Amino acid sequence: MTANTTFPKMARKNQTLGEFIIENQSEFMYSSGELSKLINAIRLAAKVVNHEVNKAGLVDILGTAGDTNVQGEDQQKLDVLANEKFIQTLKNREIVCGIASEEEDHYISINSQDEKHQNKYVVLIDPLDGSSNIDVNVSVGTIFSIYRRVTPTGTPVTMEDFLQAGNRQVAAGYIIYGTSTMLVYTTGHGVNGFTLNPAIGTFYLSHPNMTFPETGKIYSVNEGNYIHFPQGVKDYIKYCQMEEGDRPYTSRYIGSLVSDFHRNMIKGGIYMYPKSSVAQAGKLRLLYECNPMAFLAEQANGKASDGEGRILDIQPTELHQRVPFFCGSRKMVEKAEEFMRKAGKP
Ligand code: AHG
Ligand code: MN
Ligand code: MN
Repeated sequence: MTANTTFPKMARKNQTLGEFIIENQSEFMYSSGELSKLINAIRLAAKVVNHEVNKAGLVDILGTAGDTNVQGEDQQKLDVLANEKFIQTLKNREIVCGIASEEEDHYISINSQDEKHQNKYVVLIDPLDGSSNIDVNVSVGTIFSIYRRVTPTGTPVTMEDFLQAGNRQVAAGYIIYGTSTMLVYTTGHGVNGFTLNPAIGTFYLSHPNMTFPETGKIYSVNEGNYIHFPQGVKDYIKYCQMEEGDRPYTSRYIGSLVSDFHRNMIKGGIYMYPKSSVAQAGKLRLLYECNPMAFLAEQANGKASDGEGRILDIQPTELHQRVPFFCGSRKMVEKAEEFMRKAGKP
């Protein structure tokens, strides 16, 4: 599949996310309004989590994790808190039939109060991505992926509803809690980015039709693991560092997939989390990290690979499955794949 670059008809600068969702609803494949309501719920949860993330530095003042705060509420680690906020928001609004999360061992089945389980969508989330960056005031994010269930509506969800190949996603996106907070998402009609005006709590369309430059000059990888990487990855890293043509490239690695991806999409670059001799499938999770980012990448004219083939074509077998990940500007990902092909199996 080539990325669909159809630009939303109704995109206007300064349009709010709420307006954009309503005005582009007819673009959705099955436009019953349900997906719009779901994205609205994610927008709401994003604002709540943003508020919590912004206060992170105050935790030591208000009480540490495990303590109670001034209101007598339990202080929680932010990734647990973000998980609860997203799940609560989606549950309360009764708009999904199931949720899977990095923070939950099992998927959650949601029975709507009308007892008919009529909702059609399941959501998979990484509620707080890059959470090791929280303590040092560096950008973190949330990643979400949305599918239509494959089992009949009116029955509880099963594992089959969650273990769908990424090419069946109906929407995916991320929130980046950075110098400004943005929500970036796709419903298969290109990628649009919305920036939060914190004073009034409204997201505005600030980055319409985002695309990866065809190639770039940034490579993002945890080079501390270099010694454990397969030969093809080592060779590609050396290629990035070689003085020739537009190289050497610049190395930039935040350690927060959302932030590294976001920067690379704007500036041009490649993100890599390869397999290694100590982690055979790499680190990142297929269902709520790699698939949503791969859908966004393809919708933004970029590419996402496990080193050999397309991420979105992998048939998942487990909820928390890991997969090697190479994602970003199309030509850079192709070049990395070429090096891995040449080096052969490690
Ligand atoms: P999470 O915080 O959800 O566990 O994800 C962290 C991920 C990803 O965001 C990041 O790029 C990567 O782990 C960093 O891993 P290393 O510290 O091994 O480089
Ligand atoms: Mn993560
Ligand atoms: Mn996480």
